[in-house]
Amino acid sequence: MHRRGFLAAGLATVLASPRALAQMKMDHMSTKPGMGGHSGHDMGDMSQGATMLPEGKALRELQLLANEAARPGLFKARLTAEPAVACFAEGQDTPIPAYNGQSPGPLIEAFEGDRVEITFANRIGEEASTIHWHGMPVPADQDGNPMDPVAAGNDRIYAFDLPDGSAGSYWYHPHPHGKTAEQVYRGLAGAFVVKSKVDPVPAEYGDTVLVLSDLRLAADGSMPANTMSDLMNGRVGDYVLVNGQKNPRLSVAKGAKRRLRLYNATNARFLKLAFDGAPTTIIGTDGGLLEKPVTADEILLSPAERIELVVSFDKPGPADYDRGWMGPGRPADAGLTLLTVDVSETPVQAVPPLPERLRPIAPLPAPALSRRLVFTETMAINATGMEMGFLINGKAFDMARVDIVAKAGETELWEIVNQADMDHPFHVHGTQFQVFERERDGIISKPSYLAWKDTVNVARGETVRLLLRQERPGPRMYHCHILEHEQLGMMGVLDVQA
Ligand code: C2O
Ligand code: CU
Ligand code: CU
Repeated sequence: MHRRGFLAAGLATVLASPRALAQMKMDHMSTKPGMGGHSGHDMGDMSQGATMLPEGKALRELQLLANEAARPGLFKARLTAEPAVACFAEGQDTPIPAYNGQSPGPLIEAFEGDRVEITFANRIGEEASTIHWHGMPVPADQDGNPMDPVAAGNDRIYAFDLPDGSAGSYWYHPHPHGKTAEQVYRGLAGAFVVKSKVDPVPAEYGDTVLVLSDLRLAADGSMPANTMSDLMNGRVGDYVLVNGQKNPRLSVAKGAKRRLRLYNATNARFLKLAFDGAPTTIIGTDGGLLEKPVTADEILLSPAERIELVVSFDKPGPADYDRGWMGPGRPADAGLTLLTVDVSETPVQAVPPLPERLRPIAPLPAPALSRRLVFTETMAINATGMEMGFLINGKAFDMARVDIVAKAGETELWEIVNQADMDHPFHVHGTQFQVFERERDGIISKPSYLAWKDTVNVARGETVRLLLRQERPGPRMYHCHILEHEQLGMMGVLDVQA
């Protein structure tokens, strides 16, 4: 007999009080033929007709990317983006692009202090690609920016050093101009864990990476292209997968504690996560460990965010999160089970407790200057139909334009103001920041703990204030990590000067 724990997610629901603009967009959507969303998103199998994804298989551990280096302190490997065939539904082939034939891509594990040299081979077909090292402190010219494409058929080496103190849960994905959203939802993304040589978390907890991705399948097993609704809301598919599987099973002994790294690698899915019947402690965020563990009931993980947990397999249930939605096709699904944990009757041998202190985090110093970034959505009807614009300070992305010039080593205050109808997860390349304040309807709230982050959700109508310091010169991107919004222009260029 087994007792089960569940990792459940509640997802976006109806606009609580649609503002006039959202309502108007919805009306325009439904009068334009071919512009509505598809009818899926309910996560149930009935929306899929014949498509059935197997459930309840043993959780697949991500394959490690083998280190080919002959000397210690160097991590050397090759990542080839190439066509592959996935089998999500029984008896159906899904053609995808994959890194080394795997989706999610192979798990990269390296240590603080290591030198990393990864040869990237772009063999996906006709398109340029890059590898961006999301959240990692790498030099700007090694960070896979859209300005540095790797043409179809070409190779390049990405090389960088992992500084001390950089241990954390990062990830890698393509960042070519205009094609990021599609290459990622089709399967190009993987986890990159930088480990500390002096890790305070007991090794007995294990260290399991869970990459959450989003999948939509057509009746023939292929992945449909983005619709107009996908472009507006960000692509939300029909299934949330864990390491490429629907609701896989993890087996643990009674009383066991497990260390889990959760990645939201979806283009646009807001995941409100809770372990049913298992006390959960947050120990880390995007950029590594917190100062001390924090108990958590439920966790909102917006696109591109990561969270590191220790789960003691006993209670809260799932919940809804409303992130704003335009037009038809909104996801309607609370209580979706993402992962099932089987807890055996046989108790685990005594497990060491989690230490009360994990590591110090020095607060960033007082800012030398402050900047204000206002996120808006616009809509225009023209001869070719409706055009949505996703803007920062009134401008759509232009690769040839520098939007912000900053000085390396100088702390800045960034105020991200969301004046739009949807939540926008804000991300900046090349560094980790500290959120110190949120403001909504004139009410200011402070985060309950200090953390290193590279992506933060800015809810509609909210202002998030953060402290940010770039240490390395060169151009850096900042953008909304709903990748369809990034594609439609919600991105800017920050030039860091030495
Ligand atoms: Cu995940 Cu521009 O990044
Ligand atoms: Cu990034
Ligand atoms: Cu957005």
